[in-house]
Amino acid sequence: MEVVTLADPAEIGSVAADSIVDLLVRKPDAVLGLATGSSPLAIYDALAARVDAGSVSFAQARGFTLDEYVGLPADHPERYRTVIDNVFVAKVDFAPGAVQSPDGLAQDIPAACAAYEQAIQDAGGIDLQILGIGTDGHIAFNEPGSSLASRTRIKTLTRQTRIDNARFFGGDIDAVPTHCLTQGLGTIMAARHLILVASGRSKAEAVHHLVEGPVSAMWPATILQHHPHVTVLLDDAAARRLQLIDYYRETYRAKPDWQGI
Ligand code: F6R
Repeated sequence: MEVVTLADPAEIGSVAADSIVDLLVRKPDAVLGLATGSSPLAIYDALAARVDAGSVSFAQARGFTLDEYVGLPADHPERYRTVIDNVFVAKVDFAPGAVQSPDGLAQDIPAACAAYEQAIQDAGGIDLQILGIGTDGHIAFNEPGSSLASRTRIKTLTRQTRIDNARFFGGDIDAVPTHCLTQGLGTIMAARHLILVASGRSKAEAVHHLVEGPVSAMWPATILQHHPHVTVLLDDAAARRLQLIDYYRETYRAKPDWQGI
């Protein structure tokens, strides 16, 4: 796991975007895993700027989002499908239909989850997955206690996650759905490169467990310690509880530029 501390979310977004551009130059039809929430917004802004500047194209790329609330109507502004369309897909040049999401309105939820797994597999798997992390250590919506081998399925959101996400629902926790469809930890672990981004003090405890804690379903993100290519991009506030922070900084400083993340 490579841990990199950067000045602020904008720099985090820029470094992550560079890596995605490098991937698309090597592999224009790459498959990207897309997170929603606040953390990746700077990445999407940086990528949109690079598309506007003509330095990258998503015309042959495909995308799969991580998760979706169950039961939010199709026109709800906080439906993750709507959010990712607004914050990213509409700002770049994906082909129509190139980005898929779990169907939070499916009648047959197990069938919809199985179909989503199949679609990812049929696309050749995810080359690069963008991740945020919840204050309770979730990645996607794999809440504490999730199977470390889980695949796309329905999950119940913890009260903590509903409190954290109430800011998107006018501060009303009761307006936050209780359930979601989410890629599983096993699904995420199958992606070839994972970039997890986190900023702010509220993420410091989860980041500490992710990087330096024992692997445990109580802190689901810790499963990433078993992945061969994980990059964790943090601001100082999110990194403040890391015991080996000086070592991570020294390692990144000494890295040759050509190596990337
Ligand atoms: C969203 C997702 C979640 C968020 C996490 C952090 O698709 O998968 O795991 O990444 O809840 O959310 P923010 O970035 O809003 O703090």
